Amino acid sequence: MKALLFAAHGGPEVLTVAEVPAPHAGPGEIRIAVRAAGVSPADDALRSGAWKNMFQIPLPYVVGVDAAGVVDQVGPGVEGVRPGDEVYGVRPGGATTAEFAVFDLWAHKPAAWSWSEAGGAAGGVATAAHALDVLGLGAGDTLLLDGASGGVGAVAVQLAVARGIRVIGTSSPANHAFLASLGAEPVAYGPGLPARVGTRVDAALDVGGHGDVAELVTLAGGAARVRTLVTRNVAHGVSLLRVDPAGVPAALAAAAALAEAGRLTVPVAAEYAMTDGPAAHVRIARGHARGKVVITVREAIK
Ligand SMILES: NC(=O)c1ccc[n+]([C@@H]2O[C@H](COP(=O)([O-])OP(=O)(O)OC[C@H]3O[C@@H](n4cnc5c(N)ncnc54)[C@H](OP(=O)(O)O)[C@@H]3O)[C@@H](O)[C@H]2O)c1
Repeated sequence: MKALLFAAHGGPEVLTVAEVPAPHAGPGEIRIAVRAAGVSPADDALRSGAWKNMFQIPLPYVVGVDAAGVVDQVGPGVEGVRPGDEVYGVRPGGATTAEFAVFDLWAHKPAAWSWSEAGGAAGGVATAAHALDVLGLGAGDTLLLDGASGGVGAVAVQLAVARGIRVIGTSSPANHAFLASLGAEPVAYGPGLPARVGTRVDAALDVGGHGDVAELVTLAGGAARVRTLVTRNVAHGVSLLRVDPAGVPAALAAAAALAEAGRLTVPVAAEYAMTDGPAAHVRIARGHARGKVVITVREAIK
């Protein structure tokens, strides 16, 4: 099968579409014919070698941690799904940007989402839903999302709003109307955030990893009320959020139900063909995508 991979670390140009053996659904897994896959900052960090000392990855490495497509194999022990079903899923170990990918963390794709939306949804949903659970927020609470307009943030805003949480979200000024359209109260990011927010919050999530977590601790009234998604911002007593796989299938199914009710969209910032993988990585590395960057896989299959 064709897959988007790199055989050595380097710039976006090391990405290439190449033939690799297709995976097969093992026990507890399904295999899908991929229609679209998400592009994440993690893909860029793994490809460039920035995370070489943190994660051992096999080379060649097929990029992508989420995707959507049509089920064509159902492994032993898997129930509630048949070949031909449309699903979306997340695979923390990568290998989703290919003609076929296997998943054990998946849910049925909501009909309300296009393939591109579904392909880029699962990583953000899994991360955002887990963050809301860990922070223990409920209706009437106030959450600050620092870096709210990207792939994870745009989903986190909507999941929080759906739980009745008041959301204050930071972004560049160009994305303030976008954040408001998702249900957040927009504020500019950068130094001096407590003064601009102007109120205490019940919890804060450092999504983008660019701000000063000390300011988030001040706003939330303690480090225990703050989590960061980004290793470089683990400081001032703030812990890194680590998604618990056990909760992911239920979170994906709940998000699909919200989507069917018209309460959760996956804003797609840009779509690239698999053969344009390097351009997709250049785009995600800039760090300013409005929503999710997505790779469509069908073109490469023709
Ligand atoms: N720990 C985990 O389990 C986990 C899971 C998923 C993702 N992550 C990490 O979470 C991070 C965010 O992922 P993503 O997919 O949402 O990234 P993304 O789509 O690139 O979004 C980045 C966000 O950061 C904002 N931003 C850019 N420059 C900023 C600055 N100087 N100050 C404050 N905010 C700034 C952007 O706003 P503007 O566009 O308006 O500038 C945007 O809202 C990545 O580092 C990713 O690796 C961690």
